[in-house]
Amino acid sequence: MAAEAAKKTKPVAAVDRVSTGVQALDEMLGGGLLLGHVIVVSGPTGAGKTIFALQFIYHHLRRGKRCLYISASDDVESVIMNAMQFGWDFRPYQESGQLDLRHVEIVEIDVGSKITSDYLDMLPKIITESGAQVIALDSITEYDDLCKSDIERRGRMLHLRRIIKDLGATAIFSAESDPDQMRSKYGVAEYASDGLILLRHYQPEDFSLFLYIVQIKKMRWIKHSRDMRAYSITDHGIEIQSPLYTILASAGKIR
Ligand SMILES: Nc1ncnc2c1ncn2[C@@H]1O[C@H](COP(=O)(O)OP(=O)(O)OP(=O)(O)O)[C@@H](O)[C@H]1O
Ligand SMILES: [Mg+2]
Repeated sequence: MAAEAAKKTKPVAAVDRVSTGVQALDEMLGGGLLLGHVIVVSGPTGAGKTIFALQFIYHHLRRGKRCLYISASDDVESVIMNAMQFGWDFRPYQESGQLDLRHVEIVEIDVGSKITSDYLDMLPKIITESGAQVIALDSITEYDDLCKSDIERRGRMLHLRRIIKDLGATAIFSAESDPDQMRSKYGVAEYASDGLILLRHYQPEDFSLFLYIVQIKKMRWIKHSRDMRAYSITDHGIEIQSPLYTILASAGKIR
């Protein structure tokens, strides 16, 4: 009886966490992402969005999860080669079927030179049919680019989120940021998602430093750190370092 009651009152948020694949980021999140959430990782070019997505997927492949990785920019061979640089061998998982690795062709030009694409309808189908537990889409920006309005962007993003939640999966969508680096290109994906992890470059006016900074801007239902932390891209992937204020203080930039 007591066990039955305990089961009914078990707080979901306390147990059902999903690692980002980056330990220090999981700690900033108080244990990881929430199962069923769709998180946007937004950043400028070269910030490490693709590497982050690969790291997330590899972490879960190693733990036996069924994964889906969708690249809108790189072909399958390039994705495999890029991952290999970090010692992440996707091939056996792909061969066994545990990993569904896809390159999606965005634009097709038909006979009348009319530009068309079935990607908008294809993506929800790919996700539904994958039955994946862990999903990375690199990136949502190509999908957003095809939408005609913010209303369509929001509606389609909410639809993807619903599909992922129904699957019981957890997803990371990378997103190109706008020039001020504070939001995604259209500023819509983060509102329709469960969380936003912001990657950005930081350089003081005297150019004496160049840092990559990560900050959790939003994470629904989670009490998380809002620290700005420096990170590096190393041969092992993304590694989180000290808080920005510590680095600036030790460089004599702030007191
Ligand atoms: N082995 C490595 N060691 C250190 N840094 C690396 C390594 N491989 C790549 N990088 C760094 O990672 C950057 C690329 O990261 P990534 O491709 O994930 O960026 P991105 O945010 O996806 O960019 P884009 O928006 O153009 O796709 C390179 O510009 C380089 O600085
Ligand atoms: Mg990329």
